[in-house]
Amino acid sequence: MTTHFSEQAMQILRDNDRGGYTVPTASLYPYQWNWDSAFAALGFATFDEDRAWQEIETLFEAQWPDGMAPHIVFRVDEPTYFPGPSVWQGDLGPLPSSGISQPPVAGTIVRHMAAGSPERAKALLPKIDAWHRWFHAARDPQGLGITAITHPWESGRDNLPNWDRPGQAVDTSTVGDYERRDTAMVDPEMRPLKEDYDRYLALVYFGRERGWDRDLVAAETPFFVADVGTTAILLRAERDLLAMGEAYGEIDVDAVRDRIALMEDGFERLWNPEIKAYCSLDLRTNELAETASSASFLAWYAGIDSHHDELISELTRYIAAAQFAVPSFDPEHALYDPIRYWRGPVWLMMNWMIAHGLADFGRDDLYDRIRADSLALIQKSGFAEYFSPADGQPCGGDSFTWTAAIWLAWADGDSA
Ligand code: DGY
Repeated sequence: MTTHFSEQAMQILRDNDRGGYTVPTASLYPYQWNWDSAFAALGFATFDEDRAWQEIETLFEAQWPDGMAPHIVFRVDEPTYFPGPSVWQGDLGPLPSSGISQPPVAGTIVRHMAAGSPERAKALLPKIDAWHRWFHAARDPQGLGITAITHPWESGRDNLPNWDRPGQAVDTSTVGDYERRDTAMVDPEMRPLKEDYDRYLALVYFGRERGWDRDLVAAETPFFVADVGTTAILLRAERDLLAMGEAYGEIDVDAVRDRIALMEDGFERLWNPEIKAYCSLDLRTNELAETASSASFLAWYAGIDSHHDELISELTRYIAAAQFAVPSFDPEHALYDPIRYWRGPVWLMMNWMIAHGLADFGRDDLYDRIRADSLALIQKSGFAEYFSPADGQPCGGDSFTWTAAIWLAWADGDSA
């Protein structure tokens, strides 16, 4: 059983390889995406370490002079995707790219691989460090210790209901007509609505009109939300960067320690005592989201355990209300939708991060449950982009890179 699925998973990674970088899935996402690549490396590392390193190295080939590693790298212009390079006009870096970033998983994956190839890790450390410093400067200009997103796509969790309310501030009146490509390839019921896409485009035009000037965007964007997911992933990656800096040098470890201390304090700003979970915080209105999401359970992955029992209760409720763990949004909430993109479905790379965080704090029981559900979803429904927590049906794109990668990481020996 394991062998058959592992062979399929390796084949998916090879098929999605475009020569040193991997697309998340053919046609629907025909470029290099940032956090997808980090997970692709995790998968490749189980059978081809050299190729795993290349994945991260090619990602940083597109790094902007100010440190940003963009969320999409456009090495080609593919007609199957909208909005492509001519719409983004992200031309401040060495390669055409989008103008925003994505959750910085790469540092954590590099640490995972570093022992086998310290020289390659060492070469990446200053780049990862510059990227993390960019997050602090560009996405936390007030030094609050929490990390903002300037676009729902920057969170990687595009149409999470938590973005609905802050998104109301985005003026979509000048977006005009455009043709989506995603809904021609995937059931529209599984993709964001037009009103969400209008906002996504309005925010692309907003950044583009400001020449992707990071300080102007941060100062003027109507959408500036401290995201619990991005904050947790950055804090975890900072800890991994510190460990590598202590082992290999190359970076200012005292500065990393200071950033970690700032974020440990800042993380508590995201605690919502009403619902007893970490939530996102709209920095324009100072309003905390009223609902948790699967990213709330990344606190442990970030090394934060200040509300252990309360957060475990919320997670337990999520798990009990669905057949498969972990729904991306509250399965008992009116806005929950088990098949629509980030409004409910299970994403296996989120499961991998949530489970590892739980294991770090002694919750091997929950680690085992989340891992078992993740592997069962693939056995039932294949290597889909995401899955319904209600019945496990496959959703979104298929032959998906990060789903294959998580299979390889989890089925082939990765344990808590
Ligand atoms: C998409 O096109 O749906 C992507 O998530 C954007 O990053």
